[in-house]
Amino acid sequence: MSVRRLAEDQFQPAAFAFNDENATWADKTIQKYPAGRQQSAVIPLLMRAQEQDGWVTRAAIEKVADMLDMAYIRVLEVATFYTQFQLGPVGTRAHIQVCGTTPCMLRGSEALMSVCKSKIHHHAFERNAEGTLSWEEVECLGACVNAPMVMIGKDTYEDLTPERLEEIIDTFEAGNGASITPGPQIDRHFSSPEGGPTTLTEEEPKAKKASAKKAVAEAATAQVDAAPVPPSEAARPKSTDAETNAALKTPVTAPKAAAKNVKAVEEQAVAAPATEAGKPSLTDKNRPAGIEKPATPDDLKLISGVGPKIEGTLHELGIFTFAQVAGWKKAEREWVDGYLNFKGRIERDDWVKQAKALAKGGEAEYIKVFGKKPR
Ligand code: FES
Repeated sequence: MSVRRLAEDQFQPAAFAFNDENATWADKTIQKYPAGRQQSAVIPLLMRAQEQDGWVTRAAIEKVADMLDMAYIRVLEVATFYTQFQLGPVGTRAHIQVCGTTPCMLRGSEALMSVCKSKIHHHAFERNAEGTLSWEEVECLGACVNAPMVMIGKDTYEDLTPERLEEIIDTFEAGNGASITPGPQIDRHFSSPEGGPTTLTEEEPKAKKASAKKAVAEAATAQVDAAPVPPSEAARPKSTDAETNAALKTPVTAPKAAAKNVKAVEEQAVAAPATEAGKPSLTDKNRPAGIEKPATPDDLKLISGVGPKIEGTLHELGIFTFAQVAGWKKAEREWVDGYLNFKGRIERDDWVKQAKALAKGGEAEYIKVFGKKPR
């Protein structure tokens, strides 16, 4: 840890005063704080004094204390605590603060200090012969991820090698310090991995975004379609807009959840007829006529309310095409509805209308009729 003492008397000027610009700035800064809390401006004022004269003199400390109505010792405590305050004259072109804390030390800070010793002065805080450069060792400056590093003024220079630090020192010595870009001195963007990012490198394709959006929308439909039917509604021929709107407000968590719901409803619906006394007979005259499985059966799951399990049951009944469903008479619809234990759902979801549209023109016709894609 650096020893923090005021400079010898021989370096201390007799007085300190902010120049006009800085005096105006100091007044405004003090006014930012509530009455009685002006002491909060101590650090900004000390820093401005340092920027003006290059270091914080005893006279500056006393001046700031007077301005803020503080005891000298209180301002001295602040100035000697923080290493960003220089308590003695430093290089006029650069004062190099080399981080010597563990991560930087493990990554070569000792070699950087050797450079400072050879190019500037063997001892920290001593200026070179021209008085333009000085250096010191400081504690962690918060850029450990890009160790080793140095700070010059308000900028940090990271991922340093001894050679690169030599170049930087030479550039400052030549008065061209502003030409150096601060931050990592290697092929690294801020604190990204060296050589470029290694994760999250691809933008999400637009098509993928659109399909995710579609999946969410379809999940909403699926969840509404798959919602269990309250017994009191069983006798109602058709849901009203209000009921549909209420159902649509049901929170949708994810497509998966909706699919799960479809499955659950299907299982409940299919399992129930087997145990119910009123289950329609397979030999009932109202059972819709089945057909042999065609080479390419229609995707009955496009009908709202039909999931994989219901589709399987329909297949067992010999129902494979939209045209078959579209042709069901009322008695046949009631038979299927009873067989699936759907409690009137086939009517409410209007399977016949859906199937007619799908049979006539597939998805395009369905969209034309219903204003949305089949699920
Ligand atoms: S250890 Fe050097 S910046 Fe943190």
